[in-house]
Amino acid sequence: MDAISVIRTKRDRGELTAAQIDWVVDAYTRGEVADEQMSALAMAILLNGMNATEINRWTDAMIASGERMDFSTLSRPTADKHSTGGVGDKITLPLAPLVAACGVAVPQLSGRGLGHTGGTLDKLEAVPGWRAALSNDAMLRVLEDVGAVICAAGDGLAPADKKLYALRDVTGTVEAIPLIASSIMSKKIAEGTGALVLDVKVGSGAFMKDLDSARELARTMVRLGVDHGVGTVALLTDMSTPLGLTAGNALEVRESVEVLAGGGPADVVELTVALAREMLAAAGQTRIDPADALRDGSAMDVWRRMIRAQGGDPDAKLPVARETRVVTASSSGVLTRLDAYAVGVSAWRLGAGRARKEERVQAGAGVELHAKPGDTVVAGQPLLTLHTDTPERFDYATEILSDAVTIAPRGTAFEPTPILIDR
Ligand code: URA
Repeated sequence: MDAISVIRTKRDRGELTAAQIDWVVDAYTRGEVADEQMSALAMAILLNGMNATEINRWTDAMIASGERMDFSTLSRPTADKHSTGGVGDKITLPLAPLVAACGVAVPQLSGRGLGHTGGTLDKLEAVPGWRAALSNDAMLRVLEDVGAVICAAGDGLAPADKKLYALRDVTGTVEAIPLIASSIMSKKIAEGTGALVLDVKVGSGAFMKDLDSARELARTMVRLGVDHGVGTVALLTDMSTPLGLTAGNALEVRESVEVLAGGGPADVVELTVALAREMLAAAGQTRIDPADALRDGSAMDVWRRMIRAQGGDPDAKLPVARETRVVTASSSGVLTRLDAYAVGVSAWRLGAGRARKEERVQAGAGVELHAKPGDTVVAGQPLLTLHTDTPERFDYATEILSDAVTIAPRGTAFEPTPILIDR
């Protein structure tokens, strides 16, 4: 087998055979297929697609590149959630302890920020002392003791994806449905969760900007999960405006703690509870209503134990950025649009995300929202507060936001986009 013939097959719109897929994924992981050859193949896949049989085999090959975890010794069922990425998407933080408080264990292997989208590990690292890296044994112990664990995937889990993902990130080949679906699902299947709920984001702040492609991604991933014996459900949810009132690491931790304390923004609470209900149902646990576990403090108890189990101090003061700048409303009326992508890029450039892989994020950086679509605003009132330790970034971050907001004349009818679009 050789890389050139595999590339030519896909370049010429052919179907890759099982043997070709197994060989190329394995040879790339071992370094026998070069980065430039894999980038050519990834681009051919982006342009010409893969059918369901090819996507299934590609996912199997990525799983086979590493180890598989096993949670069958746990005393309770497991369920996990994966979001395809958004702006202000802090849902994993309140969701994992909430589901654990309702009796289902949550083994949540999470990632770091990617482009304008935030990453759960970057957010949790804003909590003083908290560590993302856990051995598989330690992960199992925290799951048994606390019921929820959020940590980085070890190097042994789907190493083919780690390598391919980094390559796609710098070769313009991220946005290919077969590659996104196999990347996400290979990790989730190898992780060994019993059930999986996917939060497929659609809108300007998501990787999938339109409903048709989000639906196709959701269907592809659900089919992969089911074909591999993992009960999988997908929700399509809105990402045209940021979730909640914050985008940024410590800012989002603070908002998540408000949700766990029984408060927090209505959209974050609605989505957290909806996803919790799906996870509990998928794991066969329907006796407890997750909304009660937010109200009675039991989800907060799990959060505090989960943070402590990974070295964090749940009572420590969260980092605050050194400087802030306020962006005000340019006119009075009804706020009809606050663009998620622009807010995400602005938060990223303020220091909440990385421009290069090796960069450190600023824990306190980000964007705070003072109004959401549907709110009435008055000219000159604060709309957004920008936070950063590096104030020389303010001008650029403000410029990005210059076209992010639409204010319609007072009395204009406003039809809110529901957060839950489809299941
Ligand atoms: N998240 C992943 O893990 N993989 C992708 O390809 C896109 C988002």
